[in-house]
Amino acid sequence: MVGMTDQALAVVVLAAGAGTRMKSATPKVLHQLSGVPLIGHVLSTAIALEPEHIAVVVRHERDEVARVVAEYAPDALIVDQDDAPGTGRAVEVACDALPDSFSGVVVVISGDVPLLDSDTLRAVIAHHREQQVAATLISTLPEDPTGYGRIIRDDDGQVIRVVEHSDASDEERAIQEVNAGSYVFDRKLVHSALGTLATHNAQGEKYLTDVIEALWAAGLGVHAIRVEDDWLLQGINDRVQLSDVQSRLNRMIVRGWQLAGVTVQDPGSTWIELGVELAPDVEILPGVQLRGQTRVETGAIIGPDSTLLDTVVESGAHVVRTHAQGAHIEAGATVGPFSFLRPEAHVGPDAKVGAFVEIKNSHLHRGAKVPHLSYIGDADIGEGANIGAGAITANYDGVSKNRTVIGAQSKTGSHTVFVAPVQLGDGSYTAAGAVVRRDVPPGALAMSVSPQRNLEGWVEANRQGSPSASAASKAKDAKH
Ligand code: UD1
Ligand code: CA
Repeated sequence: MVGMTDQALAVVVLAAGAGTRMKSATPKVLHQLSGVPLIGHVLSTAIALEPEHIAVVVRHERDEVARVVAEYAPDALIVDQDDAPGTGRAVEVACDALPDSFSGVVVVISGDVPLLDSDTLRAVIAHHREQQVAATLISTLPEDPTGYGRIIRDDDGQVIRVVEHSDASDEERAIQEVNAGSYVFDRKLVHSALGTLATHNAQGEKYLTDVIEALWAAGLGVHAIRVEDDWLLQGINDRVQLSDVQSRLNRMIVRGWQLAGVTVQDPGSTWIELGVELAPDVEILPGVQLRGQTRVETGAIIGPDSTLLDTVVESGAHVVRTHAQGAHIEAGATVGPFSFLRPEAHVGPDAKVGAFVEIKNSHLHRGAKVPHLSYIGDADIGEGANIGAGAITANYDGVSKNRTVIGAQSKTGSHTVFVAPVQLGDGSYTAAGAVVRRDVPPGALAMSVSPQRNLEGWVEANRQGSPSASAASKAKDAKH
């Protein structure tokens, strides 16, 4: 005989609600937390339980939600809730969608409770199986129980029902123990109990919580397991709760990296998303956001005040007050302050990008420098080349983008404009203010500005009596 402990597992994720309190065009469960949508956090927890089935109940903005569900849990079953509202109806349609042959245990969790972890759920499932009860729910004692369903126990401490805040009497509202909204049920028992439920309540909905009283009334066991860390159970219903949970999760992520050997000077102003990878002895200064698939290798220093999205920083590089997206910064390079690296900016080993420099789809080879006030787009800058202040690659002719190629050890004068497509050979120079429209051979100096002429006496003749004219006269008199 198959014992209770061997029973199969299904996880039902509730994600059909409108999330009205978010006041958002984005469905609630798609709001982001540390770079992952709420529903993504919950699906990762579901997958960690290794269930036979995951069923996600959707209705509000169902296509958009279903698309994100497929991204995080490709095998999940998408179940459409009909017009009948309520968490009870949601679980009922999920049970209908599970194969008839499935007679195991159903774990119900909410798409808006992102920090609930699989270890906590595993402990609840184990309790449920050992005690052979019909339902086990998770309860907690929050600082403020307003809005939650209250757990009603009899004199012996047995759970007999859950009453929703809006349906509760003053006496019931004084109860501190609340329903966290996550449950383990026996599939057959919960399915048949749901079939008997009515919607005579303040919200006119089929409440999942009414199953508890139905099971108790039928003489079946119902247990509540209290979880002390109420952060794990925090639901997100509005944007205040979203930012509270975000700070909490970020603190956990930062702490994890600190314990793994990363120096974080100011955890309060450091934001690290879940997809980021950091090596030991990375140093993060205040005001840094590391986002997406950013990876930082050992000994690199990031900050202060930098945002890196999907960016790789190799060992020993130094990135100061920089905004980078889709960039690659190789070992020993320095970037910033005030640099803007856009997708496919590739800063080679020991290269330098300085103040007020924007780089896009360009490769700076080893030791190349773009130190000041420049726009470099669609360019290839050779090893050891030095690009003078105020360089501009005119990469766009209004129709298409063209490349600029600058050879190794070239030195370009201040304020050079490279009109692409154009190539400068190795060891070439450009004069200050040059507009380079034609290729430059190796070792040549390119000049395009006409020779300077001085018109003697022009100021005194044309700006008579001005401070400039009298200064000029004084200077000339002093010479005589
Ligand atoms: C629910 C519980 C309450 C508990 C609280 C914990 C009920 C009736 N109440 O209240 O006892 O204290 O969670 O956070 O269950 N959903 C659907 N279909 C629906 C309605 C909701 O899938 O028709 C989903 C929502 O998207 C959400 C979850 O169910 O993910 C919970 O719904 P929500 O409206 O937030 O319930 P609460 O009022 O928080
Ligand atoms: Ca909720």
